[in-house]
Amino acid sequence: MSDDTEVHLEARLAEQDEFEPPESFVEQANVTDPGIEDEFEDNWPEAWERAADLLDWETDYDEVLVDDNEPFYEWFVGGELNASANCLDRHLDDRGDEPAIEWIGELGETRTYTYEELHREVNEFAAALRDQGVTEDDVVAMYMPMIPELPIAMLACARIGAPHAVVFAGFSADALAERMNASDSEHLVTVDGYYRRGDPLDHLSKAREGREQVDGDVTTVVVDRLGEESPADVAGGEHVYGDLVEEHAGATVEPVTRDAEDMLFLMYTSGTTGKPKGVKHTTGGYLSYVTWTSHAVLDVKPEDTYWCSADIGWITGHSYIVYGPLALGTTSVMYEGTPDYPDKDRLWEIVDDYDVTQLYTAPTAIRAFMKWGPEYPDRHDLSSLRLLGTVGEPINPRAWKWYYRHIGNEECPIVDTWWQTETGGMMITTLPALNTMKPGSAGPPLPGISADVIDPSGDPVEAGRAGHLVVNKPWPGMLRTLYKNDERFINEYWDEYSNPERDQWVYFPEDGAKIDDDGYITVLGRVDDVLNVSGHRLGTMEIESATVGVEGVAEAAVVGGDHEIKGEAVYAYVITEDGQEESEAFREEIIAAVEDAIGPIARPEQVIFTPELPKTRSGKIMRRLLEDIANGDELGNTSTLRNPDVVHDIQQKVSSE
Ligand code: PRX
Repeated sequence: MSDDTEVHLEARLAEQDEFEPPESFVEQANVTDPGIEDEFEDNWPEAWERAADLLDWETDYDEVLVDDNEPFYEWFVGGELNASANCLDRHLDDRGDEPAIEWIGELGETRTYTYEELHREVNEFAAALRDQGVTEDDVVAMYMPMIPELPIAMLACARIGAPHAVVFAGFSADALAERMNASDSEHLVTVDGYYRRGDPLDHLSKAREGREQVDGDVTTVVVDRLGEESPADVAGGEHVYGDLVEEHAGATVEPVTRDAEDMLFLMYTSGTTGKPKGVKHTTGGYLSYVTWTSHAVLDVKPEDTYWCSADIGWITGHSYIVYGPLALGTTSVMYEGTPDYPDKDRLWEIVDDYDVTQLYTAPTAIRAFMKWGPEYPDRHDLSSLRLLGTVGEPINPRAWKWYYRHIGNEECPIVDTWWQTETGGMMITTLPALNTMKPGSAGPPLPGISADVIDPSGDPVEAGRAGHLVVNKPWPGMLRTLYKNDERFINEYWDEYSNPERDQWVYFPEDGAKIDDDGYITVLGRVDDVLNVSGHRLGTMEIESATVGVEGVAEAAVVGGDHEIKGEAVYAYVITEDGQEESEAFREEIIAAVEDAIGPIARPEQVIFTPELPKTRSGKIMRRLLEDIANGDELGNTSTLRNPDVVHDIQQKVSSE
């Protein structure tokens, strides 16, 4: 392409703010009926049967929704099913020899599991878990990176009715222990280590350190990923995954019949307080919802090679690498490594090699690709792609357009999907064959989802104004409660805007948003003390408590500052105790403490020593001001501060870093 044409194209895209679904996509899409919106509206909640109908039920449900104990809604009540049977057994006749998982390792090694093979290994591991004493309703913790044994262990648990609680491998030993204790988990599946940028990384020592802090005995299964290169050997009392599977070779385990409302898994996520929230998802509602949204939004078909590049340790991987795609019998790609190893074209090489049809990734990744330049995707044939998706954080129009043009060749619709750990699956997004796309705006709520943007008194805001995002009606994939904490569940999500007098329960996701005249919602970011770093959700309170735990720290405040690639970065403002030197070594000590308590993802971008924190007269830290300082923005009103002079001092420190 000549430079002139290139410039012309860029200019045209820069001006365009609405994009229609590409014709070639519409012709083959799963959902093309424009009446679907009305159908959900006119026939709510029964219209949700179309999600449940995508699954095989052992016993039909009697009622779609039971709402006589709000907000403890129940979906597909009376129905019985098994998630592992839905993801595996029912595909064996038609798709047994087709790949279920295409795994690509960090070192370039690959493994393909057909549905038949995946079914076999899930059965064998389910039998092994039973042998270890895991029974129905026991919570099994998993602390593993992106290796096939993770989805295998999840499906094995689902098969025997034992909920899993997966802890992201990048989290620290302390974080693992906290989640295992909170979920009463006495079983752990982990790995000896994994590779990062070609080097073996010890994981087992971290897992052991976490396990030691768990109350009671823990049975441990260790996957041998590194073989000879493993820095830690499996010790007495720990079981090797490979041995267990071999011992149970050929075993079959009948899928346990689960009630629709039985727990499928727990997923811990960050909230306003220092304690992570144990989000509970169920078998019938969750599985129906992620299967339906994979079908309707990601346009997944069995013959596709679909790739979600998230980590299974987060909700995106649960819903859209494992449960949704496998329930639909498609091929799900799993990549262990990073996008720039061995080179910055790694993702595009995989798309090319595997003829990937859909790519679902995070805006952070897209911003990095943009920075690296189009020469990397240009090295490869990406014409197999049919749809692109993003999730986890707002995507700015420039990044959206770059993705649309350089990855999708202007032939793939983009779905910008807003949702959360708590919602189980996508909530606000365009339907790829039906809705106009507006870069920067996620889109309308999905059919059947009722969302709005409201002001502090609970009234809808005018178009274009910012307010709080709320969801007005329940949906099948919603969390049912926070594990063993119904009270916190109500306080965190329902209390703020619900009005029992009007008999209306309103879910508050703690996001700010605006809405336009067409009902398109632009999500602006969290309104609570939660940060979104590279699409990863982190609680400022958790980081603060790790910081103040360091000897020599008197007080700390943690806020998010804008970051070109990561979206947000962690800024820690620290007051040292008298006599504590404000040295580089002490700064490193604080950073190490945060990494120990949470993990490297929470690593502060800057640690700023300050003699005071800006506080209101009532003693509340003005975080907004600290954010403005981190961003180098003009400061708002500082007249309500008890100590206005400190602001200038801190500003100078940040700008000189
Ligand atoms: O602030 C929103 C942001 O991510 C939060 C949810 O984080 P988590 O529970 O970890 O789940 C992430 C993957 C679903 C939301 O409260 N968020 C997620 N998707 C978007 C988004 N913000 C803007 N646009 C999105 N598409």
